[in-house]
Amino acid sequence: MYKVEKAKISDAPLIHKLVNYFADKSLMLPRSLSEIYEGTRDYFVVKDSERVIACASLHIIWADLAEVKSVAVAEDRHKQGIGDKLIKACLDEAREIGIPTVFCLTYQPVFFEKFGFTRLDKMELPQKVWNECFRCPKFPNCDEIALIYHVEAKS
Ligand SMILES: CC(C)(COP(=O)(O)OP(=O)(O)OC[C@H]1O[C@@H](n2cnc3c(N)ncnc32)[C@H](O)[C@@H]1OP(=O)(O)O)[C@@H](O)C(=O)NCCC(=O)NCCS
Repeated sequence: MYKVEKAKISDAPLIHKLVNYFADKSLMLPRSLSEIYEGTRDYFVVKDSERVIACASLHIIWADLAEVKSVAVAEDRHKQGIGDKLIKACLDEAREIGIPTVFCLTYQPVFFEKFGFTRLDKMELPQKVWNECFRCPKFPNCDEIALIYHVEAKS
């Protein structure tokens, strides 16, 4: 019943509101509206009429690496399989684009482990990953947990 779609530019303010609602509770990192506009093509959303009730983004870092970022589902829609659909949409897109590895940095490692992500030492991630960390309010004291997922090639 819930449909995952690519975000439209008009969704950006609602994505911003949703992500920062959880960021204010220290459950995820905040995003500026400018970052969300810049990354609009990375985002998937789930909507109920015009309300964005969930989002997630797949951001390409390099030829062999992408990051799943900003996964958020509105509190009144938790535990209905929406997060599951969003993660699968990100992994499917990585597979379609031909990206073999997807990682995430999160405070919810157990949620990501359900999809086959496995934990790794943040320091094992390539340096390219840290470029945007300079924008993070927690820099240089990152307390998120890194997980990695190996995308199987489509047969
Ligand atoms: C984490 C979050 C995205 C999960 O979304 P959701 O739509 O409730 O998840 P789903 O209903 O699709 O759950 C999928 C599976 O993950 C499990 N799950 C859900 N939230 C979980 C969590 N926080 N920790 C561990 N497992 C979780 C569900 O029980 C379900 O497992 P099952 O298939 O064995 O029943 C949502 O709770 C959320 O938006 N939290 C606030 C923001 C946040 O912490 N984002 C994390 C990524 S940065």
